[in-house]
Parts: sequence; structure tokens; C-alpha cells
Amino acid sequence: MTRRIRIIGIGTGNPDHMTVQAIDALNACDVLFIPTKGDEKAFLATLRHDICERFITGRMPRIHEFPVPKRRADGDYGAGVTDWHTAIAAIYERMLLENLDADETLGLLVWGDPMLYDSTIRIIDLVRTAGRVAFDYDVIPGITSLQALCASHRIPLNRIGLPVQVTTGRRLSAGWPESVRDIAVMLDGVQAFETVDDPDAVIHWGAYLGTPMEITLSGRLCEIAGTIAETRRAARAEHGWIMDTYLIRRPVESGGEEGE
Ligand SMILES: C[S@@+](CC[C@H](N)C(=O)[O-])C[C@H]1O[C@@H](n2cnc3c(N)ncnc32)[C@H](O)[C@@H]1O
Repeated sequence: MTRRIRIIGIGTGNPDHMTVQAIDALNACDVLFIPTKGDEKAFLATLRHDICERFITGRMPRIHEFPVPKRRADGDYGAGVTDWHTAIAAIYERMLLENLDADETLGLLVWGDPMLYDSTIRIIDLVRTAGRVAFDYDVIPGITSLQALCASHRIPLNRIGLPVQVTTGRRLSAGWPESVRDIAVMLDGVQAFETVDDPDAVIHWGAYLGTPMEITLSGRLCEIAGTIAETRRAARAEHGWIMDTYLIRRPVESGGEEGE
């Protein structure tokens, strides 16, 4: 008999994003840990509760909310992230020992897909490696914000035969990478699209994708960068938080195309 953890992708704000696999996994849970804190987290926590209300058909799992510690913003970025993950791992370890019996299953409802810019898998692996609490775990895929972005704009993610780099606003703001013409940007706290200096670049931008607040804009970057910046500012002022993601495509010189 061992504890089990199910890391369940729940999509990006629309309960309809829940897959049958995610719903089945949710219904197999005895306990759920739900992170809270801040305006954005309040929306995310509420959505998780709504998902439980809507999809759990049997006995409601025991729900334990916990505030997520804040990541240190000063000093070395990598070290800050490591410390932050260690702190969250310690919380999970304690909560597992206190709240999950040896034969029970815990569900962690992860925004979007757990494999994309989310460290739940890494953190759970930290807890397991520490060896103070034994458990098995699996991962249920979910709809990512990139899928939601492409669906809302009715575009494929990649152009034929071309790679796409998925990166952060922080990285893009340090310079456009040489090797790619297409970049998908997440976690952009600095409006890095404003640093791209190419009159022919095209942007597909989306905020609150999948939610009732969804906003999308697309067009030639040099023509709509100001509109996106103003739309972000107004939306953040209205809702108290924003989550946005975007794809920028720069023209490609001619060349053989391959693939689908
Ligand atoms: C910590 S990452 C989590 C990504 C998530 N695992 C996924 O699969 O989309 C958070 C970033 O994802 C993007 N994001 C997540 N949900 C979004 C949404 N509903 N609309 C727009 N962007 C979103 C934003 O770039 C945000 O800063």
C-alpha cells in the first residue's frame, strides 16, 4: 500500500478544457491540495473549486488550501528558483505526511499542462528523492496556454518545417535568438515584444485565454505593439492581474520547406 499523487493538467481557465482522463483522475482522489494567494491565485483557486464542483461525481475529496511562498526577486535568478522550489517541496512533504494516509491518492490540479513552464513535476520529484515520504505519481496532460492561443487565433503553432522556440519574456528581452524565426513567449513581466525590432514581424497575442475575460490581438508587431501594451495595462487595472502569452513570427528567407 502506498500513497499516490496524480499531477493533473486542468487547462487554462475554461473548465471545458478538462479531458476525460483528467476527470477520471480527479474522481480517483481522496485529497486535493489547492494553492492560494494574490488576485491571480484567487481566480485560479476559484476555478479549481468550480472544476471540482462540476466534475466530481462521488464523494468530495478533502481539500487543503495552502499559500504558495513568494519567489525571492533579488539576487541570482537560478538560486532564487531553487530556494523557492525547496520551500514548496517542504510544504508538500509536510502536508503529505499530515493529510494523506498510506493508501490514499492526492490530486494536484496544475494550470494548463504540467510539462510547460510549471515545476510541479520537478518539486514532487524533489520530495520523492528526499525519501522521507514514499509515494508513486503520474502526470495527466492538459490544454496549455499555447494551444489555447493558437486555437483562438486559428493558427498552427509552427510554420511548415520551421522550429518554434518557447521562451520567457525575460529571455526574449535579452535579445532575439539567432537560430529561430518563430518564438512563443510566456511569463512576460517586461513586455518583451517591445524589444523586437523588425518591421515585418507579426504577433499573435492573447490574455486570459480560455476564460470569460479572454482578449486576443494580432497583426504586424510594429503597428500593434502600442495597442497591446495599452490593452495589457487596462486589463491589469480592471482585473488586478494578467496572464498573457504570444507568438511572434519573423519573415523567413526562401528555402526548402518540409514536414507538416
Ligand atoms: C507558470 S506558466 C504556466 C503555463 C501552463 N502550465 C500552461 O500549460 O500554459 C504561466 C504563464 O503561462 C501563460 N498562461 C497561462 N495561462 C494563460 C492564459 N489563460 N492566457 C494567457 N496566458 C496564459 C502566461 O504566459 C503565464 O505567464
